[in-house]
This record gives sequence, C-alpha cells and structure tokens, in this order.
Amino acid sequence: MVNIQKAAVIGCGFVGSSTAFAMMHTGVFSELVLIDVNRDKAQGEAMDLSHGLPFARPMKIYAGDYSDLRECALIVITAGAAQKPDETRLDLVHKNVGIFRSIIPEIVKYNKEAVLLVVSNPVDILTYAAQKLSGLPSRQVLGSGTVLDTARLKYLVGEHLGVDSRSVHAFIIGEHGDSELAVWSGANVSGVDLDHFCELCGHTRHRENMERIYTDVRDSAYEIIEKKGATYYGIAAAVARIAQCIVRDEHSVLPVSTNLHGLYGVGDLCMSVPTVVGRRGAEKVLEIEMNDEERAEFRRSAATLEEVARTLQL
Ligand code: NAI
Ligand code: 2OP
Repeated sequence: MVNIQKAAVIGCGFVGSSTAFAMMHTGVFSELVLIDVNRDKAQGEAMDLSHGLPFARPMKIYAGDYSDLRECALIVITAGAAQKPDETRLDLVHKNVGIFRSIIPEIVKYNKEAVLLVVSNPVDILTYAAQKLSGLPSRQVLGSGTVLDTARLKYLVGEHLGVDSRSVHAFIIGEHGDSELAVWSGANVSGVDLDHFCELCGHTRHRENMERIYTDVRDSAYEIIEKKGATYYGIAAAVARIAQCIVRDEHSVLPVSTNLHGLYGVGDLCMSVPTVVGRRGAEKVLEIEMNDEERAEFRRSAATLEEVARTLQL
C-alpha cells in the first residue's frame, strides 16, 4: 500500500534540492525522502530544508536509501549529469542512461506502485528508458517534459501582452530540447484567439514577435547555463506543480513527457503533448489539433528522438 503523502527525490543536486524545497512548500506531503549517491549531500540538504519547516507545514524530510522508497506514492528522479555550456541535452544521453540502469532496478525492488516522475535530461529519452527498465505500465512513468518550456512561453507572452501569464493558454510540445515547437494555432488568452488579442492590444508584426518568443523559450536554458551554470528554480516550480497534480488527483492538463504508443503517428516513444495528469500518472494522452506546419515540425521532433532511442539497447 502506498501513502499518498509520501514522496522521494533521487538526486539532490541543484534540481533535486530546489525541487524538494518547492515540494515542501506545496504543503501536500507528510514525508519526503532524499536519496543521493553522495549520502552527505542528501543529509545536508535534508537538514537545511528541515530548518525551514517552522515556516511551512509539518512533515518529515530525511536522507534515506532505496528501502525507504516503500510506501512512496511519487518518486522524482533528478539524478545525473547536467549540461555544460555548449552541450545539448541529448549529449548527456549515454552517461545518464547508464545512471538509470543502476537506479531504476533499485526503485522497483522496493516499490512497484509509485508514479515515477523523470526530470533528468534528456528527459524524453530517460522517461522512455525508465519505462523499459522498470517494466511498469507506461502511464505510471512520466517525464516533466515541456511543462517548464510551456511556463517559459506563458511568461514571455504574458510579458509581451501585459497580461497575467496564467491567462495565457498555449503549449510547447515535442522534445524538451532543440526540436520542440509552439502550437500557436491553438493559443489563446482566456479564450480569445491569440492573434486577435494581439490586435486588441495594438500589437503589429504578430508572426515576427511570436517567432522571437519561441526562439527565446527554446534557447533560454542555454542562456541561463551560460550566465549562472545551471537551471533549477523554474524546473523546481514545474515539478512541484506536477507532483501536486498527482498527489491531489487533479486531472489537470499538462504537457508531460509520455509514451505516445501510436498517437500522432508516433510509435513506442516518449515526447510531450497535453496529457491529463492524476494519481495514476499520465492518465489520458490527448491528440490535439495542429496545422500542417506544426504537424510537420512535430514529426521532425519525433524523428530526432527516434534516432537517439535507436542507439540504446533498452
Ligand atoms: P547536479 O550535478 O547539481 O546534481 C546531480 C545529482 O545527482 C548530484 O547530487 C549527484 O550526486 C546525483 N547523482 C549522480 N548519480 C547518481 C546516482 N547513481 N544515484 C543517485 N544520485 C546520483 O545536476 P542538476 O543541475 O541538479 O541537474 C540534474 C539533472 O536534471 C540533469 O540531467 C539536468 O540536465 C536535468 N535538468 C532537467 C530539467 C528539465 O526541465 N527536465 C531542467 C534542469 C535540469
Ligand atoms: C532546462 O530547460 C536544462 O532542461 C533544462 O532548463
């Protein structure tokens, strides 16, 4: 039996520790286990986070080992190498698949019921690897995918139009990486078609502006890594949001990375598309409308990931 309020974070580096901090402040967890190959790092993070608990809700945060995963309803995986300036996410694949080959069997030894939420990069390939290596039903193993990129898009469109980013409804889909795309054809601001909203705001050169925003979204991780060495606050907020959807069984629609199993004409491969997320993980993968140009870009993104997936023996 799982305890819906018990979760774990594996990998306590920049992303894992920031994610634990963000999850702690959701107030929906009663127990959070931190695991890292560097046990001291996990212990130090657990101590530091616990000292903030008087300003949050009561819960236990502690460094553990794989046997402490028993009863967890959610296991977030952020372990692995991160990009250096000039590296792409896909450049990390062999190193991080190697790390997953050691982590995933340890997880399923103690827990076959938890939802696994993969964050390590390249997230789509590692979500696929976690599905194959765990043997769990594919809906139970999802990746943070383009939830972060979609948040970046909403933020930048909101800034451009002078509106609350939460009123912007638009998705980045495909690979969490260089081949991702924005589904502009379905974008709107609280139900008002995006092109029309831009006109109402007196903006001209709509297409040019949206292309610039898309490029900024796609390349923002490179810029942040160049300037400060790593990205972690944005992803931590995104993961805490996904975690909350799972624990509270919210059925929110988020562009998580999930196995498409033939949807959109893509076979056995993980990529991000809008998906209903709840207690059982990626509960329903949605096949949304796209125009011809977007469909072609989506197929190109799938081809990029298929080429990488083919090189792995999973
Ligand atoms: P980091 O180097 O700060 O932390 C990685 C941690 O993983 C270290 O504490 C290390 O000891 C641990 N680790 C390594 N091998 C392990 C193993 N076998 N078992 C347990 N722990 C292990 O790196 P950072 O910045 O935290 O990034 C982590 C991953 O998250 C990277 O792959 C990075 O690319 C990815 N990332 C993903 C994002 C997304 O949107 N999906 C956003 C930002 C980063
Ligand atoms: C990000 O998009 C590097 O995948 C990481 O921030």
